[in-house]
Amino acid sequence: MGTRAKERLSDLPQPPETGFIGRSRELLVLERQLRPQSNQARWALIRGQGGEGKTALAVEYARWQVRSGQTRRAAFVSVEQHSSAEAVLDALGRQLVPDYSVTAYPDIDQALQPIERALREQPTLLILDNLESLLPRTTDPTAPAALVETTADSLAAILALAARLYPLGENRLLLTSRETLPAPFAADQQRHKLQLHEIHRLAREDAIALIEQALAQTSGAPSDAQREPIEALIETVQGHARTLALLAPSLRALGVAATRERLTALMEEMERQHPGEREHSLYASVALSLARLAPEVRERARVLGVFQGSVHPEVLRVMMDWEQAQVTELAQGLVATGLATPGPYDHLALNPALCPYLLRGLDGEERAGLARLPQLRGLRGRNRLILQAPGVKGRHYKPTSRFLSTKAS
Ligand SMILES: Nc1ncnc2c1ncn2[C@@H]1O[C@H](COP(=O)(O)OP(=O)(O)OP(=O)(O)O)[C@@H](O)[C@H]1O
Ligand SMILES: [Mg+2]
Repeated sequence: MGTRAKERLSDLPQPPETGFIGRSRELLVLERQLRPQSNQARWALIRGQGGEGKTALAVEYARWQVRSGQTRRAAFVSVEQHSSAEAVLDALGRQLVPDYSVTAYPDIDQALQPIERALREQPTLLILDNLESLLPRTTDPTAPAALVETTADSLAAILALAARLYPLGENRLLLTSRETLPAPFAADQQRHKLQLHEIHRLAREDAIALIEQALAQTSGAPSDAQREPIEALIETVQGHARTLALLAPSLRALGVAATRERLTALMEEMERQHPGEREHSLYASVALSLARLAPEVRERARVLGVFQGSVHPEVLRVMMDWEQAQVTELAQGLVATGLATPGPYDHLALNPALCPYLLRGLDGEERAGLARLPQLRGLRGRNRLILQAPGVKGRHYKPTSRFLSTKAS
């Protein structure tokens, strides 16, 4: 790519190592909706589970739009790193205006002027990534009030800035978030629906292509005999893009079947090597979303440590003897924070790292208590539990662990 084209893509993250794969339907929907002459408001939100591929999709869309001349350039800001309106402005300015620095201006209004001029002159696609990192955790009574207020203010200021900039000239705005957004972007429910793009697991063929690409770098195209283990791996990780991408080195070193068998150990290893880094550790990615659950819901979620892959809320209700409202609240919380996706027959497809991550947090007594629950007998199929039940002593054993005694009185 020539230097001029690179400049027009400015701070866009690099495409995935395997090259961007699939998502053609999502790209077309975005294209239709964000077309300059379209009557819709020219913004869209890509929402989905952590690691499902929101950023990758937004970046691919931007590259395509610049390459095909539909937009002159793209500017990309992650609000996880640039978490105040000034920082966002500075990051945008540096991509759009030569030698820009927000500190060179006495106030925001003046700092905005050269950016607004640039945006009027050159149609630009603005991307604000990771908006969920600024959404206030209003339900978390343990968060310091000052912190909650600051993030709420920052989010409002950044969204107001975006709402002011994208209508200029022929600009468009693309947002990504694990969670849905507050005003002004959620003002009109009907419109919001049109502008909300939920992305889910990779399509089966795309997930296969991703694995094939990863393998091709060492061993050439996989043989037909590998097709079965590849499909089994995709099912185990629910076609989750980040999981498949991060498993690439192991796929090459160990092969497909061994990678699937060692999945939990590999996730542990990622966290050991990249503690707390959402892009390199699946546990870190899950921890970010778990931290956004209300504390009592987070406590209830811990029991998911003994499940694998998916869960039916009704099974949870019976198993834990919870009220319907408690199960519903948990299910809604998991979906809203991007830890689960509703599947057919009310099953929740869980982020593939969620169960192993939560299992680490259950101590021996808690695991044993759960294993002894009489309601668990006979659970099969999609509600697989991974507990090894120790011998049951006494029919009336009642587990005492915290989440087992949360039934509303
Ligand atoms: N369509 C795709 N083709 C190839 N690789 C992909 C694709 N989508 C995602 N990936 C891979 O999965 C990884 C995770 O995707 P991405 O960072 O876009 O997820 P995300 O939804 O933005 O996650 P988060 O919520 O943590 O920001 C990428 O780094 C990339 O390697
Ligand atoms: Mg992202």
